[in-house]
Amino acid sequence: MRIGIPAETLAGEKRVATVPEVVEKLIKLGFTVALETGAGDAADFNDEAYRTAGAEIVTSAAQLWAESDIVFKVTVPTLAEVDLMRVGLTLIGFIWPAQNPELMQQLAAKKATVLAIDALPRQLSRAQKMDALTSQAGVAGYRAVIEAANVFGRFFNGQITAAGKVPPAKVFIAGAGVAGLAAIGTAAGLGAIVRANDTRAEVADQVKSLGGEFVKVEYEEEGGGGGGYAKVMSEGFLQAQREMYAKQAREVDIIITTALIPGRPAPMLITAEMVKSMRPGSVIVDMAGERGGNCELTEAGRAVVKHGVTIVGYTDLNSRLARQSSTLYATNLFRLTEELCKTKDGVINVNMEDDAIRGLTVIKEGEVTWPAPPLKMPAAKPAAVAKPAPAAHGASGQPASAGKTAALFAACALLFLLIGAFAPAAFLGHFTVFVLACFVGYMVVWNVTPALHTPLMSVTNAISSIIAIGALVQIAPPMDIGLDRPDGWIRALAVAGIALTAVNMFGGFAVTRRMLAMFRK
Ligand code: NAI
Repeated sequence: MRIGIPAETLAGEKRVATVPEVVEKLIKLGFTVALETGAGDAADFNDEAYRTAGAEIVTSAAQLWAESDIVFKVTVPTLAEVDLMRVGLTLIGFIWPAQNPELMQQLAAKKATVLAIDALPRQLSRAQKMDALTSQAGVAGYRAVIEAANVFGRFFNGQITAAGKVPPAKVFIAGAGVAGLAAIGTAAGLGAIVRANDTRAEVADQVKSLGGEFVKVEYEEEGGGGGGYAKVMSEGFLQAQREMYAKQAREVDIIITTALIPGRPAPMLITAEMVKSMRPGSVIVDMAGERGGNCELTEAGRAVVKHGVTIVGYTDLNSRLARQSSTLYATNLFRLTEELCKTKDGVINVNMEDDAIRGLTVIKEGEVTWPAPPLKMPAAKPAAVAKPAPAAHGASGQPASAGKTAALFAACALLFLLIGAFAPAAFLGHFTVFVLACFVGYMVVWNVTPALHTPLMSVTNAISSIIAIGALVQIAPPMDIGLDRPDGWIRALAVAGIALTAVNMFGGFAVTRRMLAMFRK
């Protein structure tokens, strides 16, 4: 199949949906790649680099849309682009189906298959490699700090020089999601004193691990709204939060706001009064400008000075780091293409049985399939809110399910009793270890957050290499257990077994180390 990369048409958009390095990988998967001339220029990838990687350069958008089987895009397609689209094409990119119902109808009329990268079920650990929302938010968070540093008149780090002592800048980050955490890491890396707040208390440890201090709102309310996202907080909480933010505004030099709630306008966190209370020369970078802003005085898309404070409301932070954003985005789409083309023959299969692909697919061959049914994930821990009084026996579903559990336990106990009574003693030892291992394994995996399942698997894999002991015993049996020296071929197999296990062991620990490093400063 032929993958087409058009030049982005949205004013000011500098990203491109794939980069030369990824073109080579797509070709290895069996696809041909065509690029509209100049599509990568603004991100510093010229036509020649794409041509060298194996892409064909086409001269017009009309030709590209008409000849491609699959189109990779960054921004939501315009209606003019939909007109150019050939019937039955597969489109992959940002779509935001809830905000663009008219576009969805037009894409459906074109019998298109549309994979909205913004609809990816991010809570699946397997989906992380395709998560463009995370990769782009990370770049934007970094860039927000750079924008702040650009207009701030002092160093970020403290310095003692012959010319005088410079205190470190104080930075406050409102909202510690993906962008906020990236901003914390960047500002702390530049030497600033960083504080952060979020309505989701569980991010406190992540803030600390990146070198920031978590500032709590003195009001007990759970901020999680499901799927790792925030919810709209009560007026009581918001009042307490405003008091804390007002105090921070008086103390800090730079505020970076990143707070968002899915499907809602951005929460208003920094009032005009707070801006007035900041020292002249202070900076606010409002990353929520496009959704109404977290600061009352933000002007989306512009930097303005109000009450002596520079308020940066740029909405194109990713385009301001276009080469990096494009490279990460291209890798996300490549990982998705790998999932779509497991046969590596250049043909995609949109498998609606796959949870990640099902979530992404908002239109399948002209039929709107959005929204996807909710994922069956392990239930989140219940919030510590008022618990209902225990119901009377048999009055609701709760006691019935407790009854089922009790029956299951009784059945298991009976089974173990029978095994204990009749099984040989040697079997019982192994069986006890097996049952305990199942129990411990279940408790460990169940209590680990889904984001850490991949490193957990890789370390478990490494630990499983303990089977190497079996092979070692075959090569050189301990003297006192009375085994004969094994045949040559058994020893040869044992050596091969040790070599393979060693790869598993060292590879497993190396992968775990690399993955955990992503969570550390
Ligand atoms: P987002 O862009 O929707 O929101 C940004 C941040 O603003 C969130 O942390 C939110 O709690 C915070 N916020 C909302 N209202 C606020 C208020 N009134 N005051 C202060 N802060 C407020 O969220 P984003 O960055 O896209 O992701 C949210 C979370 O989901 C992150 O912790 C991220 O790590 C997690 N996530 C989890 C995944 C997984 O489970 N595998 C995958 C992707 C993200």
